[in-house]
Amino acid sequence: MTTKIKPQQNTTFKREVTEGLTNFPKRLSSKYFYDKKGDKIFLDIMAMPSYYLTGCEFEIISNNIFTIGELFRDSKNGLDLIELGAGDGKKTKVLLKYMAENNFNFTYKPIDISENAVELLSNNLAHEMPTLTVDAEVGEYFEVLERLKGFNKRKKVIMVLGSNIGNLPHPKAIEFLTKLKDAMLPEDLLFMGFDQKKNPQTILDAYNDETGITEAFNKNILTRINRELGGNFEIDNFKHWEVYDPETGTAKSFLVAIKAMKVTIEQLQLTVNFEQWETIHTEISQKYDDKTVSWIAEEAGLEIETYYTDDKEYYKNYVFRKA
Ligand code: AVJ
Repeated sequence: MTTKIKPQQNTTFKREVTEGLTNFPKRLSSKYFYDKKGDKIFLDIMAMPSYYLTGCEFEIISNNIFTIGELFRDSKNGLDLIELGAGDGKKTKVLLKYMAENNFNFTYKPIDISENAVELLSNNLAHEMPTLTVDAEVGEYFEVLERLKGFNKRKKVIMVLGSNIGNLPHPKAIEFLTKLKDAMLPEDLLFMGFDQKKNPQTILDAYNDETGITEAFNKNILTRINRELGGNFEIDNFKHWEVYDPETGTAKSFLVAIKAMKVTIEQLQLTVNFEQWETIHTEISQKYDDKTVSWIAEEAGLEIETYYTDDKEYYKNYVFRKA
């Protein structure tokens, strides 16, 4: 590896891209998938039949709307419903509608890493549910966690849907859950979606569609570096590759260089060398079983109150309380 670098980066994006591409093996964080184009591709992913996660979670929330809604029921002075990684809100709207129609006094606070997603969701809700109080925010999970502590005047329910926790390896997931727990009071709830271990083929198919949608999603990180940082990645020189380890439950995404090449990233004053078949690791999508969820919850000081699942038991939504 002959990588030249001059340190002069200020934003986190620049720093992390530099670190990731000068590292061996190379890596880029999946959180950078979500720009305007990435958000759009992700909507297409959620609409793919092979990407079963969205449908399962929608089914779980819809089929249990009364039970879940009443579990969320506000205390005397109302409720803050905080959603981390809100996305397009398709599944959340089922809950929002139930709460709006059943006299809940609540504020919905969607938080997402994508400015574009937050804006779209806010506009959409203002249009579809004009009486709803929405207080949206742009931010990264670990960044907004601190601010959550300020929501201590009334009951709060924190939601993390879409198996978004799956992007974190176990130690990070425990750290994340611990920080959520630290922001919770005894009456607060954490409602979280966990994709489950299942037939490995079903999982591979969800992340390796024939249509190339997931490939485009994965490669969008290179397009973004080209556009925002003056990179000259030739996207076609990379192959989307997905592996799933049924023992650990970890699905991993890679971009594999199909030939040796040099890539320059102007704004980073960086030239990156790729050997043929060298990889960039871009994402993990962790799959869970009951034991693993119990373990990370216990490590984080959370108690499992209950969980809901779909017909095929592909996916589970857990309700946690501070232990
Ligand atoms: C939004 C992180 C849950 O890992 O399943 C979908 C993102 N990546 N297809 C996932 C994703 C490839 C998704 N999460």
